[in-house]
Amino acid sequence: MDETDRALYRRAVEISQRAYAPYSKFLVGAVLRARDGTLFEGVNVENGAYPLGVCGEKSAYVAAVTAGYKPGDFDLLVITASPYGGCRQWHVEFGVDRVVYANNDGELVEHTPAELLPDTFVL
Ligand code: THU
Repeated sequence: MDETDRALYRRAVEISQRAYAPYSKFLVGAVLRARDGTLFEGVNVENGAYPLGVCGEKSAYVAAVTAGYKPGDFDLLVITASPYGGCRQWHVEFGVDRVVYANNDGELVEHTPAELLPDTFVL
C-alpha cells in the first residue's frame, strides 16, 4: 500500500458520487489500473428489478474489456467497499494483482484475489 494506492482510493470515493443506487443508497466507486497505466472507472448501477443491478468493480472491468483489455492486463483494483462474494470471483477471473478497499471498519486494506477467494471455482 503506497501513496498512489491511497490517491486512487480518494479518486474512487469521488467517483462513487456518480453511482446510480436509488434503492440501496450504497454508493460504490472503483478504479481499475491496467499494467500500461490506463485507468478505468466504475460505479454501481442499480435497477428496480434488483438482481439486474451492476456492481462498481464489474462496471470498471466491463469498461476495460470494451476498450480491448483482457484478463491478466491489470495490476490494481481499488474499490470503496469490501467486495462481496460474486465480485471476488471477477477479481479472480481477471487476475488482478492486488485489490485495495476500505474494510467494514473503514480501514484501507490490500489483498490478492486468492486471499479474497481461496480454492476458487475453475471451469
Ligand atoms: N456493491 C458493489 O458495487 N460492489 C460490491 O462488491 C459490493 C456491493 C453494490 C451493489 C449494490 O448496488 C449496493 O452495493 C448494495 O449492495
